[in-house]
Parts: sequence; C-alpha cells; structure tokens
Amino acid sequence: MSTPILNEAPEAAAAAATGASPRTATRRRYLMCRPEHFTVAYRINPWMDPALPTDTDRAVAQWQTLYDTYRELGHDVELVDQIEGLPDMVYTANGGFVIDNTAYGASFTHAQRQPEGPAFMDWFRANGFDVVEPQNVNEGEGDFLLVGSRILAGTGFRSATGSHEEVAALFGREVVSLTLVNPNFYHLDTAVSVLDPLTDDPAANIAYLPSAFDAQSRATLERLYPDAIIVSEEDGSVLGLNSISDGLNVVIASRATGFERQLRERGYNPIGVDLSELLRGGGGVKCCTLELRS
Ligand code: ARG
Repeated sequence: MSTPILNEAPEAAAAAATGASPRTATRRRYLMCRPEHFTVAYRINPWMDPALPTDTDRAVAQWQTLYDTYRELGHDVELVDQIEGLPDMVYTANGGFVIDNTAYGASFTHAQRQPEGPAFMDWFRANGFDVVEPQNVNEGEGDFLLVGSRILAGTGFRSATGSHEEVAALFGREVVSLTLVNPNFYHLDTAVSVLDPLTDDPAANIAYLPSAFDAQSRATLERLYPDAIIVSEEDGSVLGLNSISDGLNVVIASRATGFERQLRERGYNPIGVDLSELLRGGGGVKCCTLELRS
C-alpha cells in the first residue's frame, strides 16, 4: 500500500525495461462522509432491508479503512458532516458531479434523500466550487462517470435523461446515455468501473457488467470499449464494480476476487476493502467517494 503517486506518465519503454506496470497513478481529491448516523431506515433499492439491524460502529470502522487507504495512496480527502436523519449521506458519490471546479447539483429520486441535494450544494459553495442547480432528477456521480473526455450517463432507475442533456450542455462534452435494467444495479457506478479516468486520455478504459444494461446500451459499450474488462455476475453481485481507480491503484470490494485477478492481469494494482456493512444500504467503495475535479 506504499505505492508512490506519480504525476507524470513515465515513458512506456522505461516501464517495459524495468518490468514495472505501464499504469500511472495521479493524485486525486475526494469527498467522503463519515457514516456516524448510518442505518437502513427505508428501502429504496433491493439491497436495503430495514427489518435487519445495522451496526453503525462497524460501518464507521469499515469506512475508516477506505479513508485511510486513500490517504496512504497520497490522495486528498475532504469531509462533509453527516446530517442526522439522512442515513444515505455516506454515499457522497450521489451528491453531485464535479468537473473543472463546477459542481452540478443532485436532485434525488426518492423523498427520503431529497434533502441531501441542497446539503451537498451548500458544501460545494462553502468550499469554493461553482454550483449549478439541477433542473432534472439526477443522482450525481452515481449515474455520471467521466471516462477520458467522455461522460457515460446512466438512466432507468434514478437519473432522468433530461439530466444527461443538462450535463452535456453544461460541461460541453460528449455524453453517452446508457439504460440500466436490473434493479440490483440501479446506479451506473454499480455496473461500470472507470479504470483510467484522466480527462485527456483518449484510450481510457472501463470494466462493466453487461447484464445490467439493455441490448442497445450493451452494443454501445462493446463498440466504444472493445478492450473493456467484462466482470462476472459473482463479482458484480458484491458490487465489485463499485470501485475507485487513480489510474494504477484500483480500490475494490475485497470479495470481488475475479475482478481483482482481471485487474492484475492488465497491470493495475487492485486493493480490496471490506465495506460489508455499507453494502446493506446498497453502496460500496465508489458510492462512498465523490471525485472533486478542480
Ligand atoms: N441507499 C442508497 C440509495 O439507494 C445507496 C446509494 C449508493 N450510491 C451509489 N453511488 N451507487 O440511494
């Protein structure tokens, strides 16, 4: 876990000569929320069962491991305080979508999470981001993923397609809409993992779970990402794709052992973290992490 953070891509030849991975990490800035008020009080996705007891201390301890992992990798982590009564606030990925210091705010699908939208926008404003209030329902980076210079945008369960148009106009980038069809994979970040998220990297790649998408979206993904890692149903079903990559180090669910092997074969450095308690709310590594791009 003492992998150095490199800001410049090394020459491929040099990497080949030393036998080192051709992948390079770049330093990232993330927003997280310590799950001090974590519980499962309602059911808005099939992972959630309010009848089962939750262990908040355990959730906090697991979350802390994720936080420490990012810090040890050299990344910056900002914190937003969890508001009592908003147990899903720990899933900061849904709080907005941030590129070039502009934060496109979230507008949540379900009433239980709606107060989170303004709460995250307040945080963005207080921390120097330009905030754009959304006109359409969207759940931030849960459904918007920056891959190279392109944005992949999910719909089907949460974010409305109108938000895809808003994001395209706001950021002036190509936005590709993808339709999710399996309620277990209700956000795009549960079915797609961004592996090389550098904005200027034309060859940025992804991993994904084909069965989470309708036929047209599957065809689109095959066309755009012929080299993508296709993960197994087993790895998908522990939210293994819900991961965070810095270009080299990929923080994943420790139970996603097949995905771990696939990543290693491609020269990435997978790091497994156990977030089983937070999985009971239907979220994993990525859900607990919002990337702040300034
Ligand atoms: N309980 C939350 C919900 O259903 C989980 C959100 C997970 N976040 C994510 N980025 N997939 O809204």
